[in-house]
Amino acid sequence: MPSFINEAAWIASAKSKPLQVGPAPAPIPEENEIVIKVAYAAINPVDWKLQEDASFELKYPFILGTDVAGTIVQLGSGVTRFKLGQRVIGHCDGFVSGKASNCAFQLYTTCREILVAAVPDSLPLANAVVLPISISTASSALFVQLKAPLPSLNSQFTGKKILIWGGSSSVGSSAIQLAHASGLEVIATASSANHALVKQLGATDVFDHKDTDTVDKISNLLRPGDLVVDCISSEDTQVKCGEILSRIGGGKLPILGFPKGIAPRKCGTSIWMKHLLILRSERSRAWIHESQVGDAVWRQYIPSALANGKFQAKPDPVIVKGGLSKVQEGIDFLRGGVSAKKVVVEIAQE
Ligand SMILES: NC(=O)c1ccc[n+]([C@@H]2O[C@H](COP(=O)([O-])OP(=O)(O)OC[C@H]3O[C@@H](n4cnc5c(N)ncnc54)[C@H](OP(=O)(O)O)[C@@H]3O)[C@@H](O)[C@H]2O)c1
Repeated sequence: MPSFINEAAWIASAKSKPLQVGPAPAPIPEENEIVIKVAYAAINPVDWKLQEDASFELKYPFILGTDVAGTIVQLGSGVTRFKLGQRVIGHCDGFVSGKASNCAFQLYTTCREILVAAVPDSLPLANAVVLPISISTASSALFVQLKAPLPSLNSQFTGKKILIWGGSSSVGSSAIQLAHASGLEVIATASSANHALVKQLGATDVFDHKDTDTVDKISNLLRPGDLVVDCISSEDTQVKCGEILSRIGGGKLPILGFPKGIAPRKCGTSIWMKHLLILRSERSRAWIHESQVGDAVWRQYIPSALANGKFQAKPDPVIVKGGLSKVQEGIDFLRGGVSAKKVVVEIAQE
């Protein structure tokens, strides 16, 4: 059995900063897990939010991070879909499993097989790493909560429209593409500088979220039964998306979380989306290794859509070089805000 010398950027205790680089346990994959040698890790808002607020319990010292791209170095005994040396992206679900070994900011991470996808040679890992959590989160909203048709390379138009509020965000970029692949006509919002990007991803109409008449214009385009996803989920965006939905007769509004101090009950018809709803059993609400949506998205659609260029790795990365000691810098960079960019840290050479 191979043994790898591992290191991680640790968060020592709740709210501690900066992260500390130090030794980490060598990875030991369970039956359905894959060990990935991490080349790049992407930073997500949840990383700085957890470091600042400690909003859910972690067993400190812990490791943050959910998105990796790298090379497979070991396979669990039950994994047959991949081979050693393959270039992949993986969604590390350590915040759900509670295991630091399943987190991203380390040299070797251990990822559930169903949350790993092959990356074609034409796509640099530094670009591909922007995708994992945004794919899972957008899929949870579209295919679990809104029950949209599962994505396909040859989708048929459903006759329905969907509003993706925040189309230039990381989650929004995947949501637009997955909604398009689900057969929905996509309307999105973004700053005017990002309209071309959002259209290139598949939106038919784009509106600037800062314009005062955006709610009116979008409401006029939608019909009863059309769908809305709030990919930003600030107090302001939840009010605006809720207003649009109520003007077209109501419906569920997937949101990505609750702004600090806002109680869930104030969010009306909104439902809180978690990135791993795609792996939640409908019957028992337990986390499961198999699900129809997880399979359809991560095993079927994403690898083939990446290979034939139908799914794009957007937004583009801003790369911070220098390894694990630069993860804190990456987190602080994202904390300062980005526009249609994803902060990515180069952890090790491919
Ligand atoms: N619940 C979960 O499982 C889950 C999973 C992933 C993310 N999240 C949460 O989802 C949110 C988005 O994450 P992310 O990584 O996608 O964010 P991000 O890419 O860092 O968001 C940056 C983008 O937000 C857009 N934006 C900012 N304010 C906006 C507004 N009022 N209306 C429309 N767009 C606006 C900006 O668009 P312009 O520059 O074009 O203005 C910018 O491109 C975060 O709060 C994150 O914590 C939750």
